Amino acid sequence: MTQKLEDIARALVAPGKGILAADESSGTIKKRFDKIDLASTEDSRRDYREMLFRSGDAMKNYISGVILYDETIRQKAKDGTTLVDIMTSAGAIPGIKVDMGAKPLAGPTAKIETVTEGLDGLRERLAEYHALGARFAKWRAVIAIADRCPSYNCLNANAHALARYAALCQEAGIVPIVEPEVLMDGEHSMHDIDACAEVTEWTLKEVFQQLYYANVKLEGIILKPNMIVPGQKCAKQASPAEVAEKTVKVLKACVPSAVPGIAFLSGGQSDELATEHLSRMNAILGGGSVPWPWSLTFSYGRALQAAALQAWGGKSENVAAGQRAFTHRARMNSLAALGKWDQKLEKAA
Ligand code: 13P
Repeated sequence: MTQKLEDIARALVAPGKGILAADESSGTIKKRFDKIDLASTEDSRRDYREMLFRSGDAMKNYISGVILYDETIRQKAKDGTTLVDIMTSAGAIPGIKVDMGAKPLAGPTAKIETVTEGLDGLRERLAEYHALGARFAKWRAVIAIADRCPSYNCLNANAHALARYAALCQEAGIVPIVEPEVLMDGEHSMHDIDACAEVTEWTLKEVFQQLYYANVKLEGIILKPNMIVPGQKCAKQASPAEVAEKTVKVLKACVPSAVPGIAFLSGGQSDELATEHLSRMNAILGGGSVPWPWSLTFSYGRALQAAALQAWGGKSENVAAGQRAFTHRARMNSLAALGKWDQKLEKAA
């Protein structure tokens, strides 16, 4: 029999380790490469990701798993080694994004609300990904806050899809990352931090209800939520202490203790704030007298990669600089996952 789901899930949230989200679709990676004036080709995408996955220190010590895109899980490095082999030999677990993206949800709010698609044929795709080495997967549902949004229809449709995806993953021996993202950015990001708390609480309640109906074993999932933050366009931004306190409060109210770990998305926060928020939360939890049921760690995309992408700039002579930048961010986030990050460590880099 293959590895138990619980063991994979626990390995993904092992102390001081977190997940690298490198599963940008071809459209999204093109936007990232545009910023460094680099054409997005199969080879440039391969070179970039090879640079990250060959960061030996980071991959061995700070990264538990990597979420890949369909193209990447099939790709080989320049020397012919598969990218999957590169990460597994460093001890990181390969994962795969299996959703097919957020599409307008038919109805009166179709300009704002989306439902994530990708359930058709998912059983067969999961079997193939398992054969390619994937031991965990990701499905991202997107919830926008705006006038009269989210609607119950949107929350219900997205939570139901997440639950069907999670059940199919577990059947295939794959740990589902369940990602309901309440957006902090975009056109409608005027909401304040309390609106984010309220909508996130409703979303998580709905998600866990649907997971229950779908018979998903909570011991074999990882939750990937947003932190509780104000919208990017809100005039009143929040202090790191408030973000940490409100996020912990919502999680306590919504996440059953059977869930082994919570790995946050960064969602548009700056690198350093994403690190500081995580560290503060772990410091709050570590300081309590009651042992905490789940690990709190990172599953960042932008907040782990932005500095590395800049330092690399698409040039082979900058591979070492890119890897240094990536390793630094991975180490800062590893410390944050232990509640031990300090701003002085950023400066010392
Ligand atoms: P960000 O950390 O850039 O939000 O990406 C994480 C992710 O995987 C979103 O689905």
